[in-house]
Amino acid sequence: MGGNRRVWITLFAACALLIPNAAQGLFGSDSENPADHLLKNPVAVSRSCVSCHTIGQSGSTVGPNLNQVGNRRSSDWLRKWLRNPSAVKPGTAMPNFGLTEQEIESLVTDLSRARKTFDQQAIIAESPTPDEAGRRLFEVYDCYACHRIGQKGRYNGPDLTWVGKWQDMNWEAGWLADPDAHRPGTFMPNFKLSPGEIKALTAFLGTLKGQTHAEDKRWADPLYRSKPVKRGELIFEKLGCRGCHGERGTAGGFRNPNAAPNEMVPALADVSKKYSIDQVKQIILTSRHPRPLDPAGAPPPLVCPAWSGHFEDTELNDLIVYVMCLGPQHP
Ligand code: HEC
Ligand code: HEC
Ligand code: HEC
Repeated sequence: MGGNRRVWITLFAACALLIPNAAQGLFGSDSENPADHLLKNPVAVSRSCVSCHTIGQSGSTVGPNLNQVGNRRSSDWLRKWLRNPSAVKPGTAMPNFGLTEQEIESLVTDLSRARKTFDQQAIIAESPTPDEAGRRLFEVYDCYACHRIGQKGRYNGPDLTWVGKWQDMNWEAGWLADPDAHRPGTFMPNFKLSPGEIKALTAFLGTLKGQTHAEDKRWADPLYRSKPVKRGELIFEKLGCRGCHGERGTAGGFRNPNAAPNEMVPALADVSKKYSIDQVKQIILTSRHPRPLDPAGAPPPLVCPAWSGHFEDTELNDLIVYVMCLGPQHP
């Protein structure tokens, strides 16, 4: 018996060394999920974090998927967040649970363990093209935890289904290198990406030109039949208007160097006071270049894109209704 056992152990160790993938297959059960400790954490269980977050295989989609949160947030950031979420992100749906310091430390430990390791250099080296490398990096970093492309992912960041259609990829590269420099206090984490990773990711983002748009027309659901404002909001989200005008269009706040009057992309809080319905229609259908502050300087990188030909008249009407309804009184 004892002898047999030794043979098995030796065989197994050899297998694990020679074919790590096979060993992973054997042990790649739920007990290896990096978010497992978090799932069982007594504080997380008692506060029911899964009522808003996905942890492991289950949970809800109100907040970001937490399975790899340790890849993108430092312990210090997590402490600050758990002490008072709305001090970090005003208006967030995440409640302040009034946690004790001990409970916070327990959560920070298990949130930090929810991370994956991977070989970025190998991913770049082994991919046939830069955009394929970017697609794989987007997956392994779990950018889908907050972003949506087609039907996949979340709404805690802008929908990226159309981002390659209109966004300037030089701007995007600067954004990925240091989001906070382009929007102070942004919720988008700094992943401390290498120049090679940024090159791959922007190549991938550049390929996203709405190919998966039709599969995710949530506004077409009969549930919203008599709710044009809600339909408009869903269209606004899907087209990525939020990527420049901010959450619900009223946040604004992205830096747009050399754009008049204040080097910022405007929030859309007072559109109904400034423009008629026809004017808003024109703004959406044709592209709109901000006036440069210094005519001799570089043109502002963020330009309002032209949407002519990309959606139906009824969709355009709903979008206009939504934009006209925006305002400080309609957050
Ligand atoms: C009522 C819904 C809700 C509950 C319950 C909730 N959260 Fe959140 N949480 C959110 C939302 C929403 C965000 C994203 C911020 C935003 O978009 O406003 C978030 C963000 C986070 C983040 C940052 C994620 C990232 O990727 O940066 C962490 C960490 C977090 N929550 C942990 C927890 C923990 C731990 C619990 C349980 C103790 C919990 N949350 C319970 C809604 C919730
Ligand atoms: C914790 C949530 C979160 C994660 C994870 C996240 N982002 Fe973001 N991202 C945001 C938010 C929020 C914004 C919008 C900035 C704002 O509102 O302050 C944003 C903005 C962006 C933009 C600009 C969009 C535009 O319209 O130009 C890009 C591109 C982007 N993220 C790419 C990525 C990539 C690539 C990853 C993975 C490496 C990633 N994000 C992971 C939250 C996230
Ligand atoms: C790439 C960034 C970007 C995206 C994406 C974007 N916009 Fe804009 N938008 C701008 C900029 C920059 C301006 C300011 C133009 C100017 O100064 O004339 C602007 C101006 C506007 C205005 C006029 C605001 C005012 O106060 O004069 C409206 C309305 C508007 N955008 C609607 C939209 C809608 C709806 C979408 C989505 C379909 C959208 N934008 C997507 C960058 C963007």
